[in-house]
Amino acid sequence: MGFGGAGPCYVRTMTLPWLSPNPRADRRAPYGPAQRAVIDPSGLDELAATMARCPLHAPTPLLALPALAARWGLGDLRIKDESKRFGFGAFKALGGVLAVYGELASAIDEADHRQTSFDAVLAGDGADVTADMVFATASSGNHGRAVAAGARLFGRRCVVFLPAFTDAAKEAAIRARGAEVIRVAGDYDAAVAECRRRSAAEGWTVVSDTSWEGYERAPVRVMRGYSLIAEEMLATQWPEGPTHLFVQAGVGGLAAAMIGMLWAALPRRPLSIVVEPETADCWFQSNRAGQPTLASGDATTAMGGLACREISPVTWPIIGLGADWFMTIREGDAVAARRLLARPDGGDPALAAGFSGAAGLAGLMRAATEPEARRALGLDGDARILLINSEGDLGAPPV
Ligand SMILES: Cc1ncc(COP(=O)(O)O)c(C=O)c1O
Repeated sequence: MGFGGAGPCYVRTMTLPWLSPNPRADRRAPYGPAQRAVIDPSGLDELAATMARCPLHAPTPLLALPALAARWGLGDLRIKDESKRFGFGAFKALGGVLAVYGELASAIDEADHRQTSFDAVLAGDGADVTADMVFATASSGNHGRAVAAGARLFGRRCVVFLPAFTDAAKEAAIRARGAEVIRVAGDYDAAVAECRRRSAAEGWTVVSDTSWEGYERAPVRVMRGYSLIAEEMLATQWPEGPTHLFVQAGVGGLAAAMIGMLWAALPRRPLSIVVEPETADCWFQSNRAGQPTLASGDATTAMGGLACREISPVTWPIIGLGADWFMTIREGDAVAARRLLARPDGGDPALAAGFSGAAGLAGLMRAATEPEARRALGLDGDARILLINSEGDLGAPPV
């Protein structure tokens, strides 16, 4: 393996404007309390067992893409196909449902000073305390659908704030789960602001996938749901794990869950590369600034799930301190990556992906086909790469 897989990143010089090392990443650092407060791997096997009781639930496939690995001279290339999650079509299903349950359980605990369980709440436990709870969130589409599904499962009202760009298919899928939709004339960050304002006025319970000062409990619960992706992969599908993770980021919830879980579980944590659209590069810019910073662009992108101008600050101890590299991709990279997944090389399986879903592969493609990036990241015959197809092609144009 090349230099990228070995020592600390910060000794490297890089002339590519779209690829930046993390000067704070110490590859020998243990997974400590600051990280565990964000992503806690303990008890996830029990959570996975609870999920397994859900009739719709099955682990999503981890698919090998050997022909594509050979094209780029990589040792192994696998993709966790979250388009198959619950028949829901995106990893976000894992977060929203569990976070709604968590907020109900906390309300019961606060009122009655007792613990409950997922099954008990489903059966109506604590309904006297929680009957009037209304759940609200802002979303580019997928998280809102997950919160709507959770609220419906537990029989509660739900209001989802959507930015102007969310397509009609995603709005219809949210409404089909019984939620009310409020369109905000602005982007994802404007939808978050409006959700906060209205929820404070109405007394609604916000179940956000992004955090802000003083608001961390629900986003941490959402990310705990996402952690099941890594949990089920390490438990049965790929215990040895990857040497490299290319993970797409919006606010950073998925990236924190994946980087955190692999850092905590594997003897040697994989080299993590966080991938963002160039117009929504809030992590890329925050890494350079050494603190949470706005994206350089206006977040206009076909990669709607990644169209965020601000990071989720609670994820900083994992991504800000533990991601090794940050990179941006162009719109055309995501288009090409979707095509590669839908019409694969050789005998590789075909995958349906939306633009956000294909973004991790788009990052790998950009890096693997650029000699300086290949060398810096150690993309060679020893590299075992993990990607996540974070969503299917709901609402996306045909490839
Ligand atoms: C399909 C898809 N992929 C990736 C992401 C990014 O997740 P996060 O905002 O947690 O970084 C999202 C977020 O909405 C998404 O919908």
